[in-house]
Amino acid sequence: MTVLSSRFPFPLSADIFQYSNNLRPLDTNVSIQVTHEYTEEVGLKRSLLKQHPERCFREEIHTRDAQWEVLNYVLHQLSQVYPEHFRLRQEGDNWIFENTLLGEEVHFRDLDNDSLSCAPLDFAGRQVQEDLILLTQYDDKLVLEAGQLCFPGNWSLYFDFGMPFMDIHTPVPGLIDDGLAAKIERFLMRVESGKPWTRLNWSLNAGRRLDTSAETFDEWGPYRYRVTEDNVGHLVHLRVEEQNLMRMPRSNSLLFTIHTYLMPLHEITQNQTWTNRLYRVLCTLSPKLVEYKGLSAYRDVVVEYLAKELRVNT
Ligand code: HEM
Repeated sequence: MTVLSSRFPFPLSADIFQYSNNLRPLDTNVSIQVTHEYTEEVGLKRSLLKQHPERCFREEIHTRDAQWEVLNYVLHQLSQVYPEHFRLRQEGDNWIFENTLLGEEVHFRDLDNDSLSCAPLDFAGRQVQEDLILLTQYDDKLVLEAGQLCFPGNWSLYFDFGMPFMDIHTPVPGLIDDGLAAKIERFLMRVESGKPWTRLNWSLNAGRRLDTSAETFDEWGPYRYRVTEDNVGHLVHLRVEEQNLMRMPRSNSLLFTIHTYLMPLHEITQNQTWTNRLYRVLCTLSPKLVEYKGLSAYRDVVVEYLAKELRVNT
């Protein structure tokens, strides 16, 4: 039996942080992670999809074939990597997918939109903790043309839908002006099928909340101003997004998966190396990044807390 893990991919590999093309080959070929939090997080996704369908799922209808490709890819991943929990089999024209963690069995026919209760990408996203974003590749650009996004780090699928890769990254300080975004896009356009890539992205969250969508900023944003010396260890979380990228060979689209992890600072400080890294990175983070990552109101409280923890443990 595969033991579901409580993994946390710590994102900082140096004491100074700056943006770079930090993609590296995904050696394991496991692009979907099923963790202990599976039932809770998939349940949360499904309830967000029900309450806010317009902000959690968008599609250009011409991406349907590519969406079917993603669905096949995701269900094969689940059944191959976690055979104790997910099973996929074919009977004649029918595919049968069993999800034993949720006690569900679904029958569908490949490429038959009427055989599913929702769009194929939406269906795929309802089986995994990852958010799933699909980009169509044109001669000179990648465009976000379908996505299921329930746990955004302060951005909006509704707003970014239909945008090219470069426009999506306009708010990120330095990424466009330094020419880095253009380089990354050229790199992405050459990604080959069967050779997935991965990267980690990070920020801090005041509060334990996966759904930090731009639309609900008024609900979670104010917590930034409630961080104090006394509550910082439990209120502030390191938020890590494990992002994978793979080419869908039939449609030539790119699938971008985002698995979001949260860990409160008091757990981070159980690990001396992590505490030290985070402390140093926060001390030297450029003012533009402090502002962009939404840390201006409480960075100093976090730095002081980490410094104290380091003093206690050395
Ligand atoms: C190909 C699919 C990708 C999509 C759809 C995507 C989308 C996004 C979005 C929506 C944001 C938030 C922008 C905002 O503030 O409104 C963002 C941030 C960012 N993206 Fe991407 N991205 C992709 C791939 C990449 C790759 C491959 C890299 C680098 C190798 C990258 C680097 C960044 C960086 C550095 C940020 C700022 C994050 C932070 O510091 O919080 N992105 N991306």
